[in-house]
Amino acid sequence: MIHHHKSLITILLLIFTVSSLVQGRVPFACDPRNGFTRGYRFCNTNIPIHVRVQDLIGRLTLPEKIRLVVNNAIAVPRLGIQGYEWWSEALHGVSNVGPGTKFGGAFPGATSFPQVITTAASFNQSLWLEIGRVVSDEARAMYNGGAAGLTYWSPNVNIFRDPRWGRGQETPGEDPILAAKYAASYVQGLQGNGAGNRLKVAACCKHYTAYDLDNWNGVDRFHFNAKVSKQDLADTYDVPFKACVSEGNVASVMCSYNQVNGKPTCADPELLRNTIRGEWRLNGYIVSDCDSVGVFYDTQHYTRTPEEAAADAIKAGLDLDCGPFLALHTDGAIRQGLMSENDLNNALANLITVQMRLGMFDGEPSAQPYGNLGPRDVCLPAHNEVAVEAARQGIVLLQNKGNALPLSPTRFRNIGVIGPNSDVTVTMIGNYAGVACGYTTPLQGIARYARTIHQVGCRDVSCGGNQLFGEAEIVARQADATVLVMGLDQSIEAEFRDRVGLLLPGHQQELVSRVARAARGPVILVLMSGGPIDVTFAKNDPKISAILWVGYPGQSGGTAIADVIFGRTNPGGRLPNTWYPQGYLSKVPMTNMDMRPNPAIGYPGRTYRFYNGPVVFPFGHGLSYSRYTHTLALAPKQVSVPYVSLQAQAFTNSSNKGIKVSHAKCDELEVGFHVDVKNEGTMDGAHTLLIFSKPPNGVKQLVNFHKTYVPAGSKTRVKVGVHVCNHLSVVDEFGVRRIPIGKHELHIGDLKHSILVQT
Ligand SMILES: *[C@@H]1O[C@H](CO)[C@@H](O)[C@H](O)[C@H]1NC(C)=O
Ligand SMILES: *[C@@H]1O[C@H](CO)[C@@H](O)[C@H](O)[C@H]1NC(C)=O
Repeated sequence: MIHHHKSLITILLLIFTVSSLVQGRVPFACDPRNGFTRGYRFCNTNIPIHVRVQDLIGRLTLPEKIRLVVNNAIAVPRLGIQGYEWWSEALHGVSNVGPGTKFGGAFPGATSFPQVITTAASFNQSLWLEIGRVVSDEARAMYNGGAAGLTYWSPNVNIFRDPRWGRGQETPGEDPILAAKYAASYVQGLQGNGAGNRLKVAACCKHYTAYDLDNWNGVDRFHFNAKVSKQDLADTYDVPFKACVSEGNVASVMCSYNQVNGKPTCADPELLRNTIRGEWRLNGYIVSDCDSVGVFYDTQHYTRTPEEAAADAIKAGLDLDCGPFLALHTDGAIRQGLMSENDLNNALANLITVQMRLGMFDGEPSAQPYGNLGPRDVCLPAHNEVAVEAARQGIVLLQNKGNALPLSPTRFRNIGVIGPNSDVTVTMIGNYAGVACGYTTPLQGIARYARTIHQVGCRDVSCGGNQLFGEAEIVARQADATVLVMGLDQSIEAEFRDRVGLLLPGHQQELVSRVARAARGPVILVLMSGGPIDVTFAKNDPKISAILWVGYPGQSGGTAIADVIFGRTNPGGRLPNTWYPQGYLSKVPMTNMDMRPNPAIGYPGRTYRFYNGPVVFPFGHGLSYSRYTHTLALAPKQVSVPYVSLQAQAFTNSSNKGIKVSHAKCDELEVGFHVDVKNEGTMDGAHTLLIFSKPPNGVKQLVNFHKTYVPAGSKTRVKVGVHVCNHLSVVDEFGVRRIPIGKHELHIGDLKHSILVQT
């Protein structure tokens, strides 16, 4: 009997263990197996979340609260609450950066999409949404299996202001509107974009704000004080963050390491409390960059004592510290009367609200939405197909002399494949990646179309010598066509590693030129990089037929590269940033945050909006195997802006700079344009229509874009809206957005059209 009983228990235990391995984690809180939790109001899913939050806060002791506002939040066993690691990342796939995520066991990998700069080049909002949806499916699956958290500190939506920035690859580029749309779409994809207040996972837009210098010329991000004008802050640096919060409804924003105008961003109530939470109405939590509270005390010496730093951060509006600082010093701050327990309660309320919206206090995860996702929902072939498609859509055809591309696989049977990035794997996924499901390298991709002859030419991207060049030349002499896969990797551009120049590193340029000279057939230069590269030499080399920029194209980048080269894909990507010549750098200290030029000091300004000097390739550049023409089918010639009040009118006249957006009746002030796009070529293609506006006395800026599929020989009507308040306004030197009265010039594709804005 006893034996029988024992073995029954063993079997039951076994079943329990096996099923918990499959089912994954124990509930974070409110486990129905803990009888005592049933009495807690915070576990009652029929009560509104804000009431449940207050109930829980009322039950916590001060020491418990203090240990809950850090990334590795403690367990509160007496209330049936587990510990929680807030730090997970999912920039372009579930990442292994951050302690919240663990690969291995049932989750050996996750789909690794192209790096964000590549995906941005697609100018396709539905693609960004779709990637977010797939990533959050895999993230939920890993959470259910106990291998990841539900709070993801992604995306990075800082403006790619300087071409040297090592983290520029993580961002959607240099343009505020492009970055804003990317931020809103990816966040909506991740967070589940619906079902009321519920969150699939919680995203986080970072790093707020004016953070885009890592380590340049003796200045690093921990010491950097970004001096930013009100104008640049409002019409450049803040634009993607505002869209992320107000359109993407993001559940979190991260403040940065740097100071802005002498104040650490994580200690600035104007930025956190007034702007993010007050003006933009963040429904979520504000988190520090990792140890940034410690940094502004220890490194920047911004406060005299650590307690002052803790109090400054929490009172400024910080809710969560990545790092131990708040756990160590908040108690002292309260004792010294620098802050109150109520300040702490407000931070906790923001945190617990997000956890409740994620369903973490709803008991058994398997009984909840997304509760059925598990290992079999990660690394699906369908997910890989989205990753390949993202790379295809992001690849930019920079040059194509004599229509050398696409190569016909029947004519070009032997392809020479050369270069340090020609057979790489992890290089293709860039930084803030995870463990990929598998890889298709460029060499493997090309081998699906033709016989390949392979030589690296340089051992790595730093290309220290020319010892291997001879073998590469022999390959080029034999091959029907030669593909050189060159560029950068994380040894050249990375977090805490800004670039020193814009040229190809080491002897790469020499390899390209020598191989081109030796080559029998057409030479295709493929650039794998996050930041722009000055390839003027290649542009001017008559032996180099085509140049492709592929960014960091993700786990299956090689498939996409080959599909473009052999014409299975008609490229439609556009550059999300300006490609400057190397000479630009000497005029532009990385520490100068000004977007606008300053002729007095020979400062040329930044990005296509303000820099008018020579470029290697401009923002928005990208060729196709087809040719598209545009005609305007509907284009209003004027629009009137109604005022909210007469007082506003008087103010407008006196300042003479245009109507304040806050004084205009903005609702429904959208002007509709109809553009017919005709594909004049012989290949179907996806065409991106870019719409720029140039206000009276203003600079040309992107206001909208629309990507559309146009079959060969046919015509598609594209309807685009230009919103008067959002798109025809400019920011004045006080940071105030106004609509200038007068003639605004619109650039719609290659067309120009004027619209008169009047009162
Ligand atoms: C402002 O200018 C408009 C014409 O642009 C004029 O009709 C109006 O009377 C002016 N208002 C004031 C208060 O001067
Ligand atoms: C945008 O991306 C989605 C998702 O990959 C795709 O279905 C759609 O065709 C793309 N749009 C265009 C115009 O290429």
